[in-house]
Amino acid sequence: MTPRPPPTRRSGGLTRRELLGASAAAGVSRLGIARPAAAQDGPGAPLAVAPIPVVRIGFVGVGGMGSVHVRNLLEVGKASPGVEIRAVCDIRAEHAERARGWIREAGGADPTLYTRGERDFERMCAEEDLDLVFTATPWRWHVPVCLGAMENGKHAATEVPAATTLEECWALVETAERTGRHCVMMENCNYGRWEMLVFHLVRQGVFGEILHAEGGYLHDLRGVKFSDRGEGLWRRAHSRERNANLYPTHGLGPVANCMDIGRGDRFDYLVSMSGPSRGLQEYAREHFPEGAPERAERFVLGDVNLSLIRTARGRTITVVHDTNLPRPYSRIHLVQGTRGLFHGYPNRIYVEGRSESHRWDDAEAWLGEYEHPLWRNVASPGEELGHGRMDYLEDYRLMRCLQEGLSTEMNVYDAAALSAVTELSEQSVADRSRPRDFPDFTRGGWRSFPALPVVES
Ligand SMILES: NC(=O)c1ccc[n+]([C@@H]2O[C@H](COP(=O)([O-])OP(=O)(O)OC[C@H]3O[C@@H](n4cnc5c(N)ncnc54)[C@H](O)[C@@H]3O)[C@@H](O)[C@H]2O)c1
Repeated sequence: MTPRPPPTRRSGGLTRRELLGASAAAGVSRLGIARPAAAQDGPGAPLAVAPIPVVRIGFVGVGGMGSVHVRNLLEVGKASPGVEIRAVCDIRAEHAERARGWIREAGGADPTLYTRGERDFERMCAEEDLDLVFTATPWRWHVPVCLGAMENGKHAATEVPAATTLEECWALVETAERTGRHCVMMENCNYGRWEMLVFHLVRQGVFGEILHAEGGYLHDLRGVKFSDRGEGLWRRAHSRERNANLYPTHGLGPVANCMDIGRGDRFDYLVSMSGPSRGLQEYAREHFPEGAPERAERFVLGDVNLSLIRTARGRTITVVHDTNLPRPYSRIHLVQGTRGLFHGYPNRIYVEGRSESHRWDDAEAWLGEYEHPLWRNVASPGEELGHGRMDYLEDYRLMRCLQEGLSTEMNVYDAAALSAVTELSEQSVADRSRPRDFPDFTRGGWRSFPALPVVES
């Protein structure tokens, strides 16, 4: 096992002192973040708790993505009762009011609003009778909100990435274990139609043994990062301060499921390299007048970061972060086995003996036979909500797992392993791409945790 690195201070993450402060405010005397000595200290199985027939939710952060989740959850509750949004917290009262309006419209009881500033979620976690605290705040708040929830006996769900430092990853894992609460990272791309088709194909053995995958987040965010609202208020700062893969989970989540990461295999180590930083500086020069403060900003984030992961079973994964240059959107999405492969953007499949030799099939042609049952059975009805229904499916499945007392499909160990890429890539980039070991957050549990099934509904 690798030694835990010393805590660092940066805009994305919290120091140990801040983490302790956050939990102390939630009424906790000790944050158990000493690492267990041996593999056998790890959990025997992913957490499952008693069924929660009516899931009472407190929502923290109802801006862009939080609003999508609130409306999805209301839709899930309409389709089958058992979901109630009891409280809404946001530093902007008008955002909280807007969410209250949607809850009223859907026929729900008025939620309590918590709008007294950046730490008012702590009051919500302490005062409200809730089963789940769900957060879609800027990155630096994900861990404090999840800790506040779990320390007060609530399950936690957070938008991506769950954490931005290794210290934060351990804090989530150890708090989830100590409190016996779920801590779920809401990686919606795991529920995308093509991602689920590929997962289904992998489970059916169509690609043979899976040996390699590629993913990434290649999204021109220049306009978003320089906006005077939404993510523009906080996301650009990370590009000023960290040279790393800042957003690894959309690309990695789906391929990690195909490779049974955390359930038979695990990320072992990575090497990472970043190129020059040009895009944001050029954008500022072209879009802001002479003398504007934006033109004086300097960014350390390489416009393209490439990270290469080797798994414990010797398989390979590349993950790219590319958000500062003009380009069409892509998550790459490649999954390759001994019999064939899927390649996204555009979606194509090649399977030896079935596809024309050396020619791609349009992946559409495979949907008839291999569409994932969840997309066949659940996704199609209703109006289009959030990222082409995948967000709806992820919220729907979280509610089902809690209502039925199942382990969640993304557990705290997955959240930590996927999020750890940010700090590990940062360390490798800063050290001439020398390898960095992933902590084994499961402490050996990955060897026996059961593989994710193909769920039907
Ligand atoms: N999965 C996806 O496809 C996807 C898409 C967009 C954003 N996200 C993630 O969702 C999260 C939020 O992103 P966004 O685009 O909605 O950002 P946003 O800025 O639009 O919304 C953030 C909201 O949180 C509120 N907020 C900020 N600090 C708070 C605090 N301490 N307590 C309570 N409320 C607080 C803000 O007022 C705002 O309403 C981020 O983690 C982002 O990475 C995920």
